[in-house]
Amino acid sequence: MWKEIEPAPADAILGLTEAFKKDNNPKKVNLGVGVYEDGQGKTPVLKCIKAAEKRLLETQTTKGYLPISGDPEYSLGVQELIFGAESDVIREGRAVTVHSPGGTGALRVGGELLKKFKPNAKLWVSSPTWANHKGIFAAAGFAVEDYPYYCPETHGVAFDAMVACLEKISPDDVVLLHVCCHNPTGVDLSATQWDRVLDIAVKKGWIPFLDFAYQGFGEGVEADRIAVEKFAAAGIDFYVASSFSKNFGLYCERTGALTIVTTSKEEAETAMSHVKTIVRVNYSNPPSHGGLAAQIILQDEALKEQWMGEVAEIRERIKAMRKALVDGLAARGVDQDFSFIIEQRGMFSFSGLSDEVVAWLRENRAIYIVKGGRINLAGLTPSNIDYVCDSIAEALKR
Ligand code: LMR
Repeated sequence: MWKEIEPAPADAILGLTEAFKKDNNPKKVNLGVGVYEDGQGKTPVLKCIKAAEKRLLETQTTKGYLPISGDPEYSLGVQELIFGAESDVIREGRAVTVHSPGGTGALRVGGELLKKFKPNAKLWVSSPTWANHKGIFAAAGFAVEDYPYYCPETHGVAFDAMVACLEKISPDDVVLLHVCCHNPTGVDLSATQWDRVLDIAVKKGWIPFLDFAYQGFGEGVEADRIAVEKFAAAGIDFYVASSFSKNFGLYCERTGALTIVTTSKEEAETAMSHVKTIVRVNYSNPPSHGGLAAQIILQDEALKEQWMGEVAEIRERIKAMRKALVDGLAARGVDQDFSFIIEQRGMFSFSGLSDEVVAWLRENRAIYIVKGGRINLAGLTPSNIDYVCDSIAEALKR
């Protein structure tokens, strides 16, 4: 059957990693995929995860299935993390959470659930957005549209244009919003801008779907949830996709959660009954290991504190690399002003490097950057920063 079939294109992000792995250049640098590397260029297992895994190994008595929605204690841990332990949403039982295979799984399950009950809805994503968003929602059956988000001239949010578009979105539609550390731009909404977006959501009645993949990478685990708290306080329906790939370093364990917020406990129970039917026909029930490790950490004050400290270290290392890149380019006499990179948040910078420069860096210096110019700053280390700065400076001068 495959004789007549054309190969599919490589994935824009993970395909780059495949090419990187095959590259024999000893100086190669992967600034593509959003995976954290420490100062030695390794993606570490967090110490709190090692401790939790040890405890899990010693105490786990069964490998029986988890419930379709995952362990209820995990769901509570996720809700406390994204809303705050004192949140009314939790007290009133207005939200339900299913343990999903990563943030991607959460987005897809949420997409299928929405499509089931809103078959004519369009799904709106920021322009630009994570390369996989459109594919996930298109695969769930949505027509996907863009709303303006990034302004290349100011390197900030094109807020007036964004608001003008959000004002016109139909109440039947769904709007995907990045809670913090916007992927790919690194440019986030301010608290006041979030208030405005929330006002529009309430007034127009479209459904907000919050992608929360980088909690802790912006300002801190608690500070980063400010938008989620605002939406929770508004008493409206919305969705949150959480990923623990980055903040718990659980990339390969595919650990995440979908939280559906409704306006009453009864509605939340109805939502849970339907989301379980979607999970059952997709992957039946979630993989347990990463979720159980995260659950141990979230339930243990000392481990949780250790985790928050480790997330802070990651955040600060990435911030230091932002500055090192900007200073390094300036020191090499690059005319272009890259100081905006310091203000961006999270793992990524929408660097403004053209596709020609990105291609030149890959072909001539084995430096891998996603098309469109997104740089993963967590791939920069004290050992490769000079090489990367020299190479970018040379590419820009050519
Ligand atoms: C990224 O944006 O690079 C990460 O979220 C990894 C992925 O799955 O694309």
